[in-house]
Amino acid sequence: MAYDTPKVPNDLSAFWMPFTSNRQFKKNPRMFVSADGMYYQTSDGRDVLDGTAGLWCCNAGHNRPLITEAIAKQASELDYAPAFQMGHPKAFELASALRDMAPDPFEHVFFTNSGSESVETALKIALAYHRVRGEGTRTRLIGRERGYHGVNFGGISVGGIVNNRKFFGSLLTGVDHLPHTHLPDQNAYTRGQPEHGAYLADDLERIVALHGGENIAAVIVEPMAGSTGVLMPPKGYLEKLRKICTEHGILLIFDEVITGFGRLGSSFAAEHYGVMPDLITTAKGLTNGVIPMGAVLATSEIHDAFMSGPEEAIELFHGYTYSGNPIASAAGLATLQTYREDGLFENAASLASYWEDALHSLKGLPHVIDIRNSGLIGAVELTPIEGAPTKRAFEAFLQCYDKGLLIRTTGDIIALSPPLMINKAQVDEMFGILGSVLKYLK
Ligand SMILES: Cc1ncc(COP(=O)(O)O)c(C=O)c1O
Repeated sequence: MAYDTPKVPNDLSAFWMPFTSNRQFKKNPRMFVSADGMYYQTSDGRDVLDGTAGLWCCNAGHNRPLITEAIAKQASELDYAPAFQMGHPKAFELASALRDMAPDPFEHVFFTNSGSESVETALKIALAYHRVRGEGTRTRLIGRERGYHGVNFGGISVGGIVNNRKFFGSLLTGVDHLPHTHLPDQNAYTRGQPEHGAYLADDLERIVALHGGENIAAVIVEPMAGSTGVLMPPKGYLEKLRKICTEHGILLIFDEVITGFGRLGSSFAAEHYGVMPDLITTAKGLTNGVIPMGAVLATSEIHDAFMSGPEEAIELFHGYTYSGNPIASAAGLATLQTYREDGLFENAASLASYWEDALHSLKGLPHVIDIRNSGLIGAVELTPIEGAPTKRAFEAFLQCYDKGLLIRTTGDIIALSPPLMINKAQVDEMFGILGSVLKYLK
């Protein structure tokens, strides 16, 4: 049955919106009603350029025919199949396609439904891996200040964003945090990876000395921290983390929920930075944000450690009703095909220097104190209004929306991450609007 969806609902009260100032929003709602290519359309009939790929997820842009058709076809062919003790072809095909796209050591894929679930899954795999190998003392987890690893209890425990943690009790025990790598005094206005800060990885040695390496299961970091304001890893930093982890038998997990699928111009940040972790978490760009799905990529060494004991025994007591859901798998396959056929990672890589120049042209505008970038990602940091942190950037967000550009703010940092299909004219349009807003921002 066809029916008309009202463009503006007449009751906004029931929906408790996530990570949103609900009261502010409901007084003056901002509604998208359709999207195509690089643009959203609002309920008041305006085009808004997508400067954030939705929430860092629509890497192929919007309304991509391969993806929408694959979803419709799959829904009518096989809508759901049980995920436990049963299979369906698309999940296996997608796992193989991901393996083929990922750097060499990643041979196995565990499906989830979100970035948060990928993080929980990776942490649990790390803990269980040590246990099945007889190193059950390795129970401690190490995250990093300012890290974002989703919103479930494991993720907020290893994460380091204060507001995401402080309301929610004592969290997981046995967690330590590395210092964050934001060094504005030394690194402001760096293009790409900053020079200063590799030494911050040495803190891992301090934590190892404190607890004993034999008690530590894993270190989890975003290779490039996105949600906390786009922080590039200082030169040599990831390499040091890798080295220290290897020396002490600690697993290294890269949370690539944002950096996966072309954001930096390579399939994964691990490849971009040339540093291989032991586990990679993904989500978002895996299905172009169209259907919820995540995946954890694991090396054979980790996977194979579980494959012992009687054959009829379940090897890992973990999984979700929707792990490898048929419609999500079809969306994932079509998304990876779209990335390949449209050369979107290559487009991101080839536009990166144009993007960098356009972004850094905002230097000198009022309140701008730092600009940083890599691939098709960028951040503009503003001085906070005294006594009202976050307000200035939020005002920029509102003004950009009115002028036809979607940006994202975290604290007083503006984060930009457009779909990878963006062209030079759209880069100009983006920074034209943002520049005009920043010029007069109070
Ligand atoms: C690095 C990272 N990890 C995990 C997540 C959580 O993903 P989700 O919102 O799909 O649970 C995000 C979301 O932005 C992220 O950026």
